[in-house]
Amino acid sequence: MRGENSVVKDPALAPEGHRKIEWAAAHSPVLAAVRERYLKDGTFDGLGVGVALPVEAKTAYLAAVLAEAGARVAVAAPLPSVVQDDVAAALAERGVAVFATSEGAPEDADRWMELALEAATAGGEAVLIDDRAGLTRIAHTTRRGLLPRLRGASEETTSGVVRLRAMEREGVLELPAIAANDARCKYLFDNRYGTGQSTLAALMQSTNLMLGGKRVVVLGYGWCGKGIARYAAGLGARVTVCEVDPVRGLEAYADGFDVLPALRAAEVGEVFVTATGNRRVLGEEHFARMRDGALLANAGGVDVEIDVGWLRSAAARVREARRHVEEFVMPDGRRLRLVGGGMVVNLTAGDGHPVEIMDLTFAIQALCAYRLAREHAAMRPGVHLLPREIDDEVARLKLGAVGMGVDALTEEQRRFLAGWRE
Ligand SMILES: NC(=O)c1ccc[n+]([C@@H]2O[C@H](COP(=O)([O-])OP(=O)(O)OC[C@H]3O[C@@H](n4cnc5c(N)ncnc54)[C@H](O)[C@@H]3O)[C@@H](O)[C@H]2O)c1
Repeated sequence: MRGENSVVKDPALAPEGHRKIEWAAAHSPVLAAVRERYLKDGTFDGLGVGVALPVEAKTAYLAAVLAEAGARVAVAAPLPSVVQDDVAAALAERGVAVFATSEGAPEDADRWMELALEAATAGGEAVLIDDRAGLTRIAHTTRRGLLPRLRGASEETTSGVVRLRAMEREGVLELPAIAANDARCKYLFDNRYGTGQSTLAALMQSTNLMLGGKRVVVLGYGWCGKGIARYAAGLGARVTVCEVDPVRGLEAYADGFDVLPALRAAEVGEVFVTATGNRRVLGEEHFARMRDGALLANAGGVDVEIDVGWLRSAAARVREARRHVEEFVMPDGRRLRLVGGGMVVNLTAGDGHPVEIMDLTFAIQALCAYRLAREHAAMRPGVHLLPREIDDEVARLKLGAVGMGVDALTEEQRRFLAGWRE
């Protein structure tokens, strides 16, 4: 069985993991339809698929669907903090090679990704489903020997696409990579509604505090920030947005939020959520102005948005106030409380995105992997967008699954829109 070389915490945890995967499967009609229509046509027979994603039930269902379609799937966690050990155990029991335990150190993640790359390419060629370009980075550095076996990579995150474009600019990207994140069925729903709901859920669950009436500061008004601000406002919070892009700042203002530079927002906020994908968005100069009891969390894909290192070195005392909540007592007595360790909070202190959201995202990912598997030879190394028809198909499948639908243009309307004489 392929799963037997896996690195997991405890195989005995598998039964609870299977239940979680079954729950995800029961709420993933789009991925199920994609499986029936496309994935089972033999494309994946014997092909390796290397996956780097948080190891929780939705990822596991995607891996299981690909394995069922004939692929040799290997899954690595990009961080120990995003591993659910019961799900990892269940996945290994289903014959997937899994390299993920919550007991690992952050430095172990590179090793797990190397092992997953090796396992995925052991029997021949492979495609990658990547998170923050982790597998792609390793295939271009410590495991360059495996590059010729890779047909391409599909990238899940905004931060990963930023890195792939940087590699492309420097002329070092040797694979075709599809920016799955930039598919409309991904960022419009996953980044916005998925991050919005699950970030707020993680904050509420880990603090047991109320958000209604509180001053919530959202740093970054991209797709994630828009979702977080909207859900916070829906819960009755008074939302302030911080941006560096004036148009996005103006958009936040028009959406009904205050827009302030971060140093001023630091003085008024009670809850701070970063979602920029940038480094040191909250640092010493902001912490110095925050009020006693301020809550800090990061929803961005990089773990350097909040300068946790400075907090740790400057604090007079640090203690775990609740599970997932660290309290830093500053020398002047103020307490700043960090939720989820400054890592992606909806995964480290929550259950990740809602299943229905990941159903869309993983339908996109499965179709990207399918496209790379079939059409890689005609794709140049570099970053590619998913063709619009595939996005449309996923949206149509989802609307159909909830009993809704859209119209098609009539021939007369198509001609009218294409012409100019009328
Ligand atoms: N938590 C999750 O589950 C989840 C889901 C999807 C994406 N992400 C991650 O969240 C981050 C944001 O993703 P997105 O899709 O919203 O990206 P985006 O590019 O749409 O938005 C980022 C925004 O941050 C702003 N920004 C950059 N530096 C800033 C600064 N110093 N201060 C204030 N604003 C700043 C940018 O102007 C931009 O508007 C990425 O790292 C992405 O990988 C997380």
